[in-house]
Amino acid sequence: MTQNPTRRTVLRCTGAGAAAICVGCGGGDGDSSETSPGRELARTGDIPIAGGKVLTEEKIVVTQPEKGEFKAFSAVCTHQGCIVSDVRDGTIDCACHGSRFAAADGSVVRGPATKPLPEKRITVEGNSVRLA
Ligand code: FES
Repeated sequence: MTQNPTRRTVLRCTGAGAAAICVGCGGGDGDSSETSPGRELARTGDIPIAGGKVLTEEKIVVTQPEKGEFKAFSAVCTHQGCIVSDVRDGTIDCACHGSRFAAADGSVVRGPATKPLPEKRITVEGNSVRLA
């Protein structure tokens, strides 16, 4: 089992095989085990089509850009680090300064953010969206 943590996609700080890289989880409340691989993030029925759900504790946003297509991204805004607030009309929105990111690929739709939200690898098993 080989995992290649790519750039800033690594959010894990704890758990088996945790990488030395720790982005987006420094300090805080100390335990990020909610982001362990295999953990269920959401039920597919809880993710609206063309919308999504912000998982504040996990710092992950799960979207369903098109029916049956699920994506997940870091919920930490790349502008100044707020947790994104909402997903609507195909964008992931940050209330802090108004940045918007595409729910389909995390790319910047509207600034001031200039970098996309890093994508998280997920799997969908039955009605369950899980971290890969
Ligand atoms: Fe999100 Fe500034 S922190 S727009």
